[in-house]
Amino acid sequence: SNPSLLILPGDGIGPEVMAEVRKIIDWFGAKRDLQFDVSEDLVGGAAYDKHGTPLHDDTMAKAQEVDAVLLGAVGGPKYDNLDFSVKPERGLLRLRKEMDLYANLRPAQCFDALADFSSLKKDVVAGLDIMIVRELTSGIYFGEPRGIFEEGNERVGINTQRYTESEIDRVARSAFELAMRRGKKVCSMEKANVMESGILWREVVTEVGKDYPEVELSHMYADAGAMQLCRWPKQFDVIVTDNLFGDLLSDAAAMLTGSLGMLPSASLGAPMENGRPKALYEPVHGSAPDIAGQGKANPIACILSFAMALRYSFDQGAEADRLEQAVETVLAEGKRTADLLGDEGATPVSTAEMGDAIVAALDAS
Ligand code: NAI
Ligand code: MG
Repeated sequence: SNPSLLILPGDGIGPEVMAEVRKIIDWFGAKRDLQFDVSEDLVGGAAYDKHGTPLHDDTMAKAQEVDAVLLGAVGGPKYDNLDFSVKPERGLLRLRKEMDLYANLRPAQCFDALADFSSLKKDVVAGLDIMIVRELTSGIYFGEPRGIFEEGNERVGINTQRYTESEIDRVARSAFELAMRRGKKVCSMEKANVMESGILWREVVTEVGKDYPEVELSHMYADAGAMQLCRWPKQFDVIVTDNLFGDLLSDAAAMLTGSLGMLPSASLGAPMENGRPKALYEPVHGSAPDIAGQGKANPIACILSFAMALRYSFDQGAEADRLEQAVETVLAEGKRTADLLGDEGATPVSTAEMGDAIVAALDAS
């Protein structure tokens, strides 16, 4: 049977960019004989409008069954004053929590045609393709004890960094599995020099690494890693790190490559019965209410999220390469949505024109 994909376009520009992904999915079905069982449902404000909840139970159940979920974006000013329990982002949080998506994947990928767009020197970023794997469900953001307490005659704010061996083991496995589909290198970042959790982290990652003899494992202190990430990011393939360090390192890495409209992401959980990980793919950007409904949104972040699904959920690495190459081709032709233009007065292409151009580049591939 065909692999299954649940599409949740969401709000604002979500449906606009997802319409372009549908063109790509249709192309793979028609031209590469790669069919998916695609179903579509509501999430976020759109689900609230229809059901009074940002994620219906039936949608949640469906998300647990499919091979991969592809989400657009949720939220918007219309929903800003809703009660916290039914806010659009609660739909997304529920998906992440109930699917137990503990590995957050943030690629930093730089298309040659956009290398001038980066704040770094062109040769530092041109052709860059690295992946940061951030542990997402544990660590200092969740550890107990936490709180603000009275201590003597003043208050003390406390958070606790806490990692169990199994939490480290499973995210490390995600990183090594990814490395096997990429450049076969993992760099693990922690601060084993000053943190107990860092010592355990290094020990467990080293142990997991023995199951992946083909993958070259290295370790770096996270502060030195931040420096190396800016100095010469191409030395990395997969970086695996904890929740806190990953938060900082992935935001910094995102800026190596330019626009929010270009950044895909994925969140992975435990392997399912068929061996595929539970997976949610989504662009990093939000629902962009300032440009929604105007045909201005850049669909590439969402299209690249689908490319990640091809590579990491559907074992179609060559087809993912084909899609990324089509994006590169279109950018090299000079086609730009408004977010990819400076002030030089060039004419931007619309969301649909960008999608059509990528389909045309696929046709020519
Ligand atoms: P945003 O990412 O929606 O927009 C930030 C800026 O980037 C805006 O100027 C927007 O026009 C631009 N932008 C974003 N994506 C773009 C694209 N594909 N093409 C061209 N330009 C793009 O973040 P913001 O404005 O902070 O939040 C807007 C709404 O989105 C809020 O309701 C927020 O809660 C929600 N949000 C949802 C997320 C999600 O669904 N994962 C993530 C971030 C925010
Ligand atoms: Mg952050």
